[in-house]
Amino acid sequence: MSKSKKLLVIGGCGYIGSHMVKCLLNAGHDVVVLDDLSAGYKENMLGGELVVGDCGDRVLLDRLFSGHHFDGVLHFASLIQVGESVVNPAKYYQCNVAKTLTMIEAMKDHGIGALIFSSTAAVFGEPVYTPINEAHPRQPINPYGMSKHMVETILRDFDRAYGFRSVALRYFNAAGADPEARIGEGHEPETHLIPLALQAALGKRPALKVFGRDYDTPDGTCIRDYIHVDDLADAHLLALEYLWNGGASTVFNLGNGEGFSVQEVLNTIERVTGKPVPAEDAPRREGDPARLVADASTAKLTLGWKPQYADLETIVQHAWQWELKRG
Ligand SMILES: NC(=O)c1ccc[n+]([C@@H]2O[C@H](COP(=O)([O-])OP(=O)(O)OC[C@H]3O[C@@H](n4cnc5c(N)ncnc54)[C@H](O)[C@@H]3O)[C@@H](O)[C@H]2O)c1
Repeated sequence: MSKSKKLLVIGGCGYIGSHMVKCLLNAGHDVVVLDDLSAGYKENMLGGELVVGDCGDRVLLDRLFSGHHFDGVLHFASLIQVGESVVNPAKYYQCNVAKTLTMIEAMKDHGIGALIFSSTAAVFGEPVYTPINEAHPRQPINPYGMSKHMVETILRDFDRAYGFRSVALRYFNAAGADPEARIGEGHEPETHLIPLALQAALGKRPALKVFGRDYDTPDGTCIRDYIHVDDLADAHLLALEYLWNGGASTVFNLGNGEGFSVQEVLNTIERVTGKPVPAEDAPRREGDPARLVADASTAKLTLGWKPQYADLETIVQHAWQWELKRG
């Protein structure tokens, strides 16, 4: 294990951030979380210190960065609903870009130079080819994806101008939960397939809508790449170590590399839970490509990242245990 470091996790009370906090604590690091609790829960923190506040609050950031010596920052705080970003882009650019810029500038001014930023497959827009590697054109088709693309651009320019070092990690679909079911996914509103389908199977939601059965895929439903949230957290720790070891600023795509269709996910859920998933067919949604699958070979090669929970069955099993536990 590397020497203990002190990390700031912004958005550490949310779904992915809370698994990151767990991963850092397991690795023996000290953790401070900054979260405004707008979409997260303090119960999600399995340890560390919580500071409740907004990541765009420069006065608070100056106080935090003067009061602690952070070896790095992991930035998960963001608004995440694609549909909402289309009808209210101001809200998304304000939170995801303006506040993030304030935070990055504060890091720079305080001489903290290791940032891991949560980006997304949405920076790519309509795929030109799959699996999608880092060189794929970035043409986001909604303000959510554009907001992440803008921050990636800011990070590139900060590196060129100030030598500010960062790694942006573009996740495809985060899924699963802590194998001990202490924490898991709990967005409000929920828009992700696996929790929606599990909740439909439990009768907590109406029938799940399957958007399109006429795609050019083996069973006609869309294919997506699901990566276990603990595997994502491991990649962040490896990316931090990469920067601490002098690695240059870069971006990595993070995914399973294997796509699963909506129907395959539903079949797996029925197998794991032993319950039928009530589902009804609905028309295709605008902007939903047939396939979105990551080529994560650069992260594997450069960081030595090896996802542990690559099979869909295990991902669903962990999500199901969490869903039962949260009741
Ligand atoms: N969930 C996915 O599948 C997925 C896929 C690709 C990218 N991402 C990115 O990963 C990150 C985390 O996603 P998540 O699913 O854990 O989301 P989440 O909503 O569960 O967590 C976000 C956390 O940030 C906090 N937050 C939001 N705005 C804040 C602010 N201004 N100041 C301080 N805290 C604030 C929220 O309270 C919440 O705890 C996001 O940046 C998201 O864009 C997620």
